[in-house]
Amino acid sequence: MFENIILEIQGPIAILTFNRPDKLNAVNAATVDELDQALEQIEANQDLRVLILTGAGQKAFVAGADIHELDKRDTIKGRSATRRRQAVYTRIEQLEIPSIAALNGWTLGTGLEIAMSCSMRIASQKAKLGQPEVKLGITPGAGGTQRLPRLVGVGRAMEMVLTGDPVTAERAMAIGLVNRVVEPDKVLEEARSLAETIAARPRLAIQYAKDAVYQACEGSLAEGLAHESYLHALSCGTEDKQEGIKAFLEKRDPKFTGR
Ligand code: COA
Repeated sequence: MFENIILEIQGPIAILTFNRPDKLNAVNAATVDELDQALEQIEANQDLRVLILTGAGQKAFVAGADIHELDKRDTIKGRSATRRRQAVYTRIEQLEIPSIAALNGWTLGTGLEIAMSCSMRIASQKAKLGQPEVKLGITPGAGGTQRLPRLVGVGRAMEMVLTGDPVTAERAMAIGLVNRVVEPDKVLEEARSLAETIAARPRLAIQYAKDAVYQACEGSLAEGLAHESYLHALSCGTEDKQEGIKAFLEKRDPKFTGR
């Protein structure tokens, strides 16, 4: 039903694939709309536990915004396009379930912005990641200047944004931009394995823990600690908490129900 993406549901895992391989999965406005619709379906499906995002073909996750659309972008369109993308990518970040970006190749511009909106990133050894916007005379507009420094620190983000040059997967790993680097044909497998590990954990504890970790990047330490305490208290009221602790004490595997 989508033209630019594919959404597959495999048990508790949703796999969303950017699917314009002949254009290196460059994201145009139609792709953003489809991504938004897919996220709505994902949010409505309470059986899902993890979302994986990846790119079709061997070469790219997403090689940036569609340059043909950028060519026609004036000041007014620049404002509306970035606000729209920011909202949709933030929707990924704020899903109740965690997301994993499986970076199978070029991850540039808006591609890196999407990857950084995911909870975790796994990269192919061949992947290259960058914010090349300045090379086109523009600045990143969908989170690149905001999420990158939060992940890698101001100095490293500054170098990537001001040079526009991509970093290798190995360098991305060294600076904390990706969680794991694997052989090119193992990216999806590794993402699925990580997704399965998380899917086996109790749903509400995962939802609250993800929310608490993101809070670490917002506001003061005091606010973060207060939010953490509140979410911990909520997790203490779940049935899965009773089961998790009982199972440990009884030396057996827990049977989580998601409540
Ligand atoms: N928007 C639209 N089309 C794009 C694109 C983008 N961001 N990135 C790649 N494509 C298209 C190319 O135009 C080409 O299409 P064509 O075969 O119809 O000419 C096709 O995808 C393959 O790309 P090509 O450049 O031939 O591949 P390559 O392996 O030689 O180079 C890159 C790969 C990623 C280095 C190069 O495609 C590139 O620099 N892309 C633009 C990256 C960018 O600046 N993105 C940020 C925008 S903010």
